[in-house]
Amino acid sequence: ETMPLNVTINGVKQSVRIEPRVTLLDLLRERLQLTGTKKGCDHGQCGACTVHIDGERVNACLTLAVTTEGRDVTTIEGLAKGDELHPMQEAFLEHDGFQCGYCTPGQIMSAICCIREGHADTPDEIREYMSGNICRCGAYSNIVDAIMDVKQ
Ligand code: FES
Repeated sequence: ETMPLNVTINGVKQSVRIEPRVTLLDLLRERLQLTGTKKGCDHGQCGACTVHIDGERVNACLTLAVTTEGRDVTTIEGLAKGDELHPMQEAFLEHDGFQCGYCTPGQIMSAICCIREGHADTPDEIREYMSGNICRCGAYSNIVDAIMDVKQ
């Protein structure tokens, strides 16, 4: 049995029918082909699936798609304006805030909220806020540098 869902994703209104058990992550990746948002653990433990709902960060793997009815979802694909990258994307490039890149979309989505919510005053504060975003390559100090840079 499917349900109707109307949600705005990266500024585009989407009207779909989905099963109630479908996660936001699977809706994005499998139904809408927005594969920038990554599936790492699928259990809320790695942060690779981080997106924004109404500007707040969530793990898309822990969010049922039907709960986004009428809301605004932003993914990594929604950050750039045409050819112009978001300042946080630029900062990750400049500071080598990634190696393999798999965790990067989630890191960037969290990093934006880190500043927006006022948790970017010190490197320690940033590390604490970003602790749900795992990077197996260990790019952590460069990620902190990138966030500090955008903060200024
Ligand atoms: Fe969602 Fe790991 S895939 S937290």
